[in-house]
Amino acid sequence: MRGFIDLHCHWIAGVDDGAPSEEEGVAMLLALHQAGFDRVVATPHMRVGMFDNDRATLVAAYERMTASLRGTSGLPEVGLGCEHYFDDIVYQRLRAGEGLPYPGERAVLLEFYGVDFPPVVVERLFDLRRGRLLPVIAHPERYRYLWGKPEALERLVDAGMATLLDAAALVGKYGREPQRAAEMLLDHGLYHAACSDAHRPADVADVARGMDRIVDLFGEEELDFLFREGPRAILEGKLPE
Ligand SMILES: [Fe+2]
Repeated sequence: MRGFIDLHCHWIAGVDDGAPSEEEGVAMLLALHQAGFDRVVATPHMRVGMFDNDRATLVAAYERMTASLRGTSGLPEVGLGCEHYFDDIVYQRLRAGEGLPYPGERAVLLEFYGVDFPPVVVERLFDLRRGRLLPVIAHPERYRYLWGKPEALERLVDAGMATLLDAAALVGKYGREPQRAAEMLLDHGLYHAACSDAHRPADVADVARGMDRIVDLFGEEELDFLFREGPRAILEGKLPE
């Protein structure tokens, strides 16, 4: 199967904990293409105090990196977004148009503290949604708050937020609890799409195993939904049906 779209990947070198070198970034893209991805959106971190990137530095890094892709064949199409750590500062940046939504500017990738989802965070998600920007919740299976509590995520999904599974969670990359949570959230139909969240070329093997696991548990149709239909809808600012 092909035509997959990866909405969460750290193939841009030198800006955070993603690809350590441009060569490794290129190797990640080649490996993802081999795994069936025809489009891979770079989502480097914007996290104040840890990865102090802003829109301008990330756009510059993306341009530098895409220049180094020229002449290499067997690559997927690429694009630029950002994994926004959803604190006060990054929220204000998004409101001021200083964030980095997905190409087309209809959806935006967000990660959270994960121990709780205080009411103010939920209100801010609604604010973005009202502002015609679809919030995409990165790897909900990793947030302790949601373990054993699918109804908390269900409320956000019912309110129109999108969710993105990290496929490697299904093969235990992050431990037993996130693996269990990923299976449970899949069972409850609470994911709109899945991704690689790869940081190194070697991570792609876990992603491919996670994709096999999805086929084993839920069939090829689910794989197609999570990696093709879902991401395509999200890029249009819609939730897949
Ligand atoms: Fe990530």
